[in-house]
Amino acid sequence: MRIPAWPESTQREQELLASVLQSPQWGGFHPLVAEFEERFARLQQARHGISAFNGTVTLELALSVLGIGAGDEVIVPAISFVSTASAVSRVGAIPVFADIGGNTFNLDPAKAAEAITGKTKAIIVVHFGAALADLDAFTKICAERGVMLIEDAAHAHGASWRNRGAGTFGRTGSFSFQNGKVMCAGEGGMLLSDDDEFAERARSFVNQGRRAGESFYAHYTVGSNLRMTAFQAAVLIAQLERLREQIDRRTENVRLLKRLLADVEEIEWQAEPQEMTRSSWYLLCGRIRGERASRDEFHRAVTEAGLPCTPFYPHTLYQNPMYREAPCVVHACPNAEAYVGDAFWFPHRLLLADEETIREAASVMREAARPSAHVVARVRRESARD
Ligand SMILES: Cc1ncc(COP(=O)(O)O)c(C=O)c1O
Repeated sequence: MRIPAWPESTQREQELLASVLQSPQWGGFHPLVAEFEERFARLQQARHGISAFNGTVTLELALSVLGIGAGDEVIVPAISFVSTASAVSRVGAIPVFADIGGNTFNLDPAKAAEAITGKTKAIIVVHFGAALADLDAFTKICAERGVMLIEDAAHAHGASWRNRGAGTFGRTGSFSFQNGKVMCAGEGGMLLSDDDEFAERARSFVNQGRRAGESFYAHYTVGSNLRMTAFQAAVLIAQLERLREQIDRRTENVRLLKRLLADVEEIEWQAEPQEMTRSSWYLLCGRIRGERASRDEFHRAVTEAGLPCTPFYPHTLYQNPMYREAPCVVHACPNAEAYVGDAFWFPHRLLLADEETIREAASVMREAARPSAHVVARVRRESARD
């Protein structure tokens, strides 16, 4: 099978990187950084883009700028990459873990609403894998209950909900450009916002508390240096220019794969919400269901056949050793715990393959989802003999 490697680069990355190397400014003050912020914000339909060196510090930055700190509670999904919760802990606030819902792989709006208390300052939704969280429900809950909505959109470059870009529904949306993401520069991050004041404060924090147009040595607030480098911006501009074409390719391949596997009831794909007008297809997620099927057998078989596949996270976020020490609140999360045992994902590079490879991948998945059919047949034969 011809499965493309990731990350990938073209002549365009080389040209832009060379232009940085030939300039006297390699850091965050190179005009390519501002150009990338502007182009990425435009892609997602946001007024402002504030870049930083990764998508963990952007989450911490978002919480700090929104004034979230000691004693505040922030509701997060029980399933995500660690940064969604660790950012809350890093600013001294308390992550409150709530369950994911149905087969969305995303925070359940009803469970999040139930977890709101007088101390709740924000809900962080994660747009996991390929599906956006229910932004209609979360914007409504947050408006009604007076809590802030923050989108962890680290998986959702180019994605949209009712034709509006992911990362623009809450007070801010945070993106990652880490090595495996659909737009990547090894590392990188960005906050989006339509709020001029938030943007100004975030930009100032990233840049040592400076104010635009004022002295380099005048620092007005206690900030830090989180600036994205010009090398990152150069690579990301090239990646941005290919994003739409790659999303189209992945979408077409997902449609084919799902059509070919439509009768395999052991595979339950992540639900695609109707209101989601475009997915990035960062991960192709699913679950192996049914008494006779086994996710671990599925994972072993597809991996042996050469498909890149991850057997989900080994535990929920709150089961991480760090949350035996760090303060947190844990609500019952039976769905999240079930996913740990039966979910999987394929990375987006598989979805950039040619049609022949996708067809081969589908037959590998078909076989792998039903390995225990042989076992079942043997067990049936044995019990018939008894
Ligand atoms: C959902 C989610 N949030 C945040 C991050 C953190 O981003 P970074 O690796 O750029 O720090 C990641 C992954 O890398 C992620 O998957």
